[in-house]
Amino acid sequence: MSSSSLIVATALLLALLLEGSNAQLSATFYSSTCPNVSSIVNGIVQQALQSDVRIGASLIRLHFHDCFVNGCDGSILLDDSSSIQSEKNAAPNVNSTRGFDVVDNIKTSLESSCPGVVSCADILAIAAEASVSLAGGPTWSVLLGRRDSTTANQAGANTSIPSPSEGLSNITSKFSAVGLDTTDLVALSGAHTFGRAQCRLFINRLYNFSGTGSPDPTIESSYLATLQQTCPQNGSGTTLANLDRTTADTFDNNYFSNLQNNQGLLQSDQELFSTTGSATISIVNSFSSNQTTFFQSFAQSMINMGNISPLTGSNGEIRSDCKKVNGS
Ligand code: HEM
Repeated sequence: MSSSSLIVATALLLALLLEGSNAQLSATFYSSTCPNVSSIVNGIVQQALQSDVRIGASLIRLHFHDCFVNGCDGSILLDDSSSIQSEKNAAPNVNSTRGFDVVDNIKTSLESSCPGVVSCADILAIAAEASVSLAGGPTWSVLLGRRDSTTANQAGANTSIPSPSEGLSNITSKFSAVGLDTTDLVALSGAHTFGRAQCRLFINRLYNFSGTGSPDPTIESSYLATLQQTCPQNGSGTTLANLDRTTADTFDNNYFSNLQNNQGLLQSDQELFSTTGSATISIVNSFSSNQTTFFQSFAQSMINMGNISPLTGSNGEIRSDCKKVNGS
């Protein structure tokens, strides 16, 4: 082979390899290999909701915490092992993330219908959509074709997942670090329209905000009184409060009117509306005044989040057990 044709051949090979790693996700990825994947996932989420009204909220949060750490690659699902330091034990996840048993049930069912085909990372994306639509929220066409990681990144989970008390500018930076903008931040925060939070994650706002010895001045007074009852000063930090005080288990746009009424539960929620001069305020107002606008933005932002650095092509693997790397 001449040196010029060798260069062309190498360039072609490189282009092919790059194409492999950048391959686009697709809504029809499993249409021939596992055509019923969505209805199987939907059915199991629906069944789980019968005994646990909160489970949909817990499942969408898993997808978020997966995608923010090395991309949407199922890394959050791996248990501790000799080679894995589980993300489950990172600060944002430990004693907080839940729903892993439901993911395992989904995996078991899919392995019997279409063995070795559907990734755990895609299960999280499909379960997130099912959870939102079953709670009355928007539906969207989930893009698929992610593969599963063979590693976890506990340190990454500690640094990349936003904390509720770190302030709007840091949180905005963490979204921007994964390619998500301010509209994505406000829309996706709207997932706090359902689910619960533990007292320990917002109690500083109720009694001693930022070391002031007083409550967060942005909390509306009757809501403050209610929250102080739910979370007494020397009570259990694991007691739960609804993230959306008006419609706790429904996916709607009331989260945004709560913010307008100074009734956001987490500091990170209320700051979207209460930070003077912030670009987030007008977005909150627009989602609060028009649920359709919120639903459309939410669906688009879920697709954006689901596109964070997926493993595709021949990268990664299809785990047969979401908790373990194959062969380990
Ligand atoms: C903007 C930054 C965010 C922060 C600081 C944040 C923080 C939190 C915290 C502290 C909790 C309570 C956890 C517990 O009590 O154990 C929570 C729950 C939740 N988060 Fe977020 N979150 C953020 C964004 C998101 C996003 C982007 C989504 C999904 C798209 C999401 C979905 C949820 C859901 C549904 C729950 C309730 C889970 C359950 O009931 O099990 N959050 N979040």
